[in-house]
Amino acid sequence: MLSNGEQHSETDATRPASTRYEQRKPSRSGIGKFYMGREISRVMGHQGAEWLERPEREREEMPNLLVELLKLKEGDVVADIGVGTGYIARRIAPKIGDTGTVYGVDIQPEMLELLGKKMTEAGITNVKGILGTITDPKLPPESVDLTIMVDVYHEFSHPYEMIQNICRGLKIGGRVAFVEYRAEDPGVPIKRLHKMSELQVIKEATPHPLVWVETLDDLPWQHVIIFEKIAIQ
Ligand SMILES: C[S@@+](CC[C@H](N)C(=O)[O-])C[C@H]1O[C@@H](n2cnc3c(N)ncnc32)[C@H](O)[C@@H]1O
Repeated sequence: MLSNGEQHSETDATRPASTRYEQRKPSRSGIGKFYMGREISRVMGHQGAEWLERPEREREEMPNLLVELLKLKEGDVVADIGVGTGYIARRIAPKIGDTGTVYGVDIQPEMLELLGKKMTEAGITNVKGILGTITDPKLPPESVDLTIMVDVYHEFSHPYEMIQNICRGLKIGGRVAFVEYRAEDPGVPIKRLHKMSELQVIKEATPHPLVWVETLDDLPWQHVIIFEKIAIQ
């Protein structure tokens, strides 16, 4: 009960977890669980890891340009959530140098094994694998300058809890970059549930202590939607 005649409108933050998500009939590539009107997609299994390393990805996604757009600095701490084989992490690692760290988080131990192998092959020593859970990337509190999720967020089974815990890991003023295939663009040849609109990302990020900073549309298929963590009074 609220005192002093306070009005209480239920927000996503106050809503019990049991009513946060809705269960409906699953579509082909979805899990039938809906969040804010969006069906969550299935997780890409480690058996498909080769697809992440396909040579045409350079042309389709321009990962080196993506990393340039992030404006990283020597010594930055970056969390690459849903790191997979480390396709993006190994491009970030040299930009932040030996004094920087990439936390490469995944929920599939097999992906972390592949990540370790790829980093050893490339002679990269500043990427640390973390086995997260479906609700928590297990980042050290208030330690991260930038969290990046490339082609990942739409498959979180618990997006609200994941963003809540990602925010705990961020420094105040730290940034979160959602890199998602553009749902607004029918020319992007990716299944609907693996794409997200800018509006939907903003809708899902802003119940958290995150403010939208900018959306970059320089990449061929994806947008980069960037938020900053603010202090809560
Ligand atoms: C499509 S792959 C993308 C991999 C990588 N970001 C890339 O672009 O090459 C998605 C990855 O997200 C991981 N994933 C899904 N849900 C996750 C969660 N809650 N926390 C961490 N990783 C997750 C999957 O295991 C998978 O490795």
